[in-house]
Amino acid sequence: MYVVFLGAPGAGKGTQAGVVAEKLKLAHVATGDLFRAALKQGTPLGLEAKKFMEKGTLVPDEITIKMVMERLAAPDIKNGVILDGFPRNTEQAKALDAALPKTGKKIDKVVYIKVSEPELIKRLAGRWICRDCQTPYHEIDNPSKVKGKCDKCGGQLYQRADDTVETVKNRLKVFFAETAPLIEYYTKTGKLVEVNGEGTVDSITKSIIKALGDKPTQK
Ligand code: AP5
Ligand code: MG
Ligand code: ZN
Repeated sequence: MYVVFLGAPGAGKGTQAGVVAEKLKLAHVATGDLFRAALKQGTPLGLEAKKFMEKGTLVPDEITIKMVMERLAAPDIKNGVILDGFPRNTEQAKALDAALPKTGKKIDKVVYIKVSEPELIKRLAGRWICRDCQTPYHEIDNPSKVKGKCDKCGGQLYQRADDTVETVKNRLKVFFAETAPLIEYYTKTGKLVEVNGEGTVDSITKSIIKALGDKPTQK
């Protein structure tokens, strides 16, 4: 199954993709995480992406599409994938629609995780991320068991450089201008399912799995 998670910054794409991918045995590909990993390694891709990420604007399509296509060719994608944060504009969606059929694949569902603006801002202001496995936490609403440490891998938690008030404002603007049109794009193809992204993490996971029309594989 090939699934896209669509949602504003802070909607819970990363939180839900982590859980749902594990339950449904899908790979989790997050373009933001790929850029941050490249930056951590100091690669030319990472350094180029940084210029855009720190302003909260989109990394150019050419770079992003190439990176995603390379990632989708990896062996761990064979059972399917949750794409978190890609596509993020119509150009990227068209590129994906053109590339997937060449490998006999297609997007099966697009989950739009809807969250109100005040809630998004509150979530991003209190977010902490694991340096090692990228799992997001929230200092009040979704804290780690041990302060500053990841529940999953024990990694150190940090706050993202683009979670400042100014950059968040810009990321939201970019979402409404460039990414929100994808809601209509995927509605037209009959692939979009909307999920209320407010509530407990568990209840939202259940809604998403229900929306995907799939029972989670038992562990
Ligand atoms: P990216 O890393 O994708 O950031 P984003 O879209 O802004 O989304 P976030 O990761 O901020 O939010 P999320 O929806 O994953 O929420 P999370 O689960 O963490 O992109 C960063 C940058 O990279 C972009 O600005 C751009 O420059 C570049 N980029 C990436 N993809 C690109 C592309 N395709 N093209 C071009 N450029 C690209 O949750 C947020 C917080 O809420 C956490 O603290 C979490 O614990 C908490 N939370 C989650 N669920 C709940 C809940 N139910 N109740 C309470 N709190 C909750
Ligand atoms: Mg994320
Ligand atoms: Zn971790």
